[in-house]
Amino acid sequence: MRTPSSRIGAAIVIGVVVGCVFAFFYPYGFFYPNPPPKSHPFFKYDVLVESWSNESTEWMNMLRSYIRRLSEKNAELQKQVKELNEKLQIAEQEKGRAQEQLVLLGEPKKAAPFGKVKSSRTSRPVLPDESVNPRLAKILTKVAVGKEVIVVLANSKVKSMLEMWLTNVKRAGIPNYLVVALDDDVFLQLGYRVLLSDVDIVYLQNPFDHLYRDSDVEVMSNGHNNMTAYGYNDVSAEADMGWALYTHTMRIWAYSSGFFYIRLTIPAIELWDRVANRLTQEPNAWDQAVFNEELALPSYPGYIGLYASRRVMDFYLYMNSKILFKIIRKDSNLKKLKPVAVHINYHPDKLYRMKAVVEYYVYSKQDALIWMHSQMVQIDRYFYFKRRRCLDQHTCTWNIPLGTYYLFFFL
Ligand SMILES: *[C@@H]1O[C@H](CO)[C@@H](O)[C@H](O)[C@H]1NC(C)=O
Ligand SMILES: *[C@@H]1O[C@H](CO)[C@@H](O)[C@H](O)[C@H]1NC(C)=O
Repeated sequence: MRTPSSRIGAAIVIGVVVGCVFAFFYPYGFFYPNPPPKSHPFFKYDVLVESWSNESTEWMNMLRSYIRRLSEKNAELQKQVKELNEKLQIAEQEKGRAQEQLVLLGEPKKAAPFGKVKSSRTSRPVLPDESVNPRLAKILTKVAVGKEVIVVLANSKVKSMLEMWLTNVKRAGIPNYLVVALDDDVFLQLGYRVLLSDVDIVYLQNPFDHLYRDSDVEVMSNGHNNMTAYGYNDVSAEADMGWALYTHTMRIWAYSSGFFYIRLTIPAIELWDRVANRLTQEPNAWDQAVFNEELALPSYPGYIGLYASRRVMDFYLYMNSKILFKIIRKDSNLKKLKPVAVHINYHPDKLYRMKAVVEYYVYSKQDALIWMHSQMVQIDRYFYFKRRRCLDQHTCTWNIPLGTYYLFFFL
């Protein structure tokens, strides 16, 4: 049996608990339509001041004037910070301008009518300077066609691939090429437009017949479709952002540093300089990444971008080996297309795949790509760990005795 006093006690406890709950959820009561506006940062102090007001008007006035002075001071400091930020910004802009090497050429012009305004796609060419390397200048006058030349950078390690490269270049009827072991911008200083080529590229047509020549740099793509080759809006979602769930980021770079045409302009020469400098200073840097960064990144605090104009080559005409072996090989329509050049950049067994490309496109052996691919994939898988030796995540070599390939062909 419960006594009346215990019931009263229980009632009080329940009352207090319910009261606390309501006080927590409805701090301003049931009938207060909205909490008082909290816009003023000193809202809390105002309440404090109100409740003390009748006790000590003087104290209240003191507090009020103190708060007023504080907020005035605060506003003044904020103004100073804003002014300093503006000054900093102007200083950075001026620094950028000071480092700008381009001299504005010609008189300012009026803009064309709306809808017809076109900016220039490339900078003015620089003047050639033959004194940089008179011997090379002499060779170039003989080799180049229309001041243009393909330059392949090679060394003794890639001898068999270089032989293959030369055979293909000659077969494609390209007269203006040069094999060199140096990699600086002397060509540009001498006044030649250079198509820089890796040695793992099979030429099927003359690339100079298919260039646009409207940009400082015209580059082969590592991408494999419109999106990855020509850029796209990369949209990602972050659930905790609620209403602003989606992040839009433009992805533009998939340029190949293994095959690009470079015009005789200051930005193009600077690109060469920058990439060469960075690769010297950061020996472990990946040349593809460095090339893409220098070519694509805009200026940001602490960095001045290059602003070379760029064109991506048609990825079916200037094709990488991923497109060839992943897409073209399986598509009967695309198989009819004849590329200008094929870059075996996605596969380690370069020489054999170069041969397969020649077999398919030059000698029309319909199954060359398929057969070669399936053989190579098997070998790739088998030897993947054995023959791959890496200095770091980007610099790997594949050491496999050539005999092994033949062995596998006969198995
Ligand atoms: C202060 O005094 C005014 C009248 O002078 C009165 O209306 C008000 O309720 C008082 N406030 C407090 C918190 O005592
Ligand atoms: C890729 O772009 C080209 C030219 O801009 C267009 O003709 C082609 O239809 C596009 N391909 C796809 C699959 O969207």
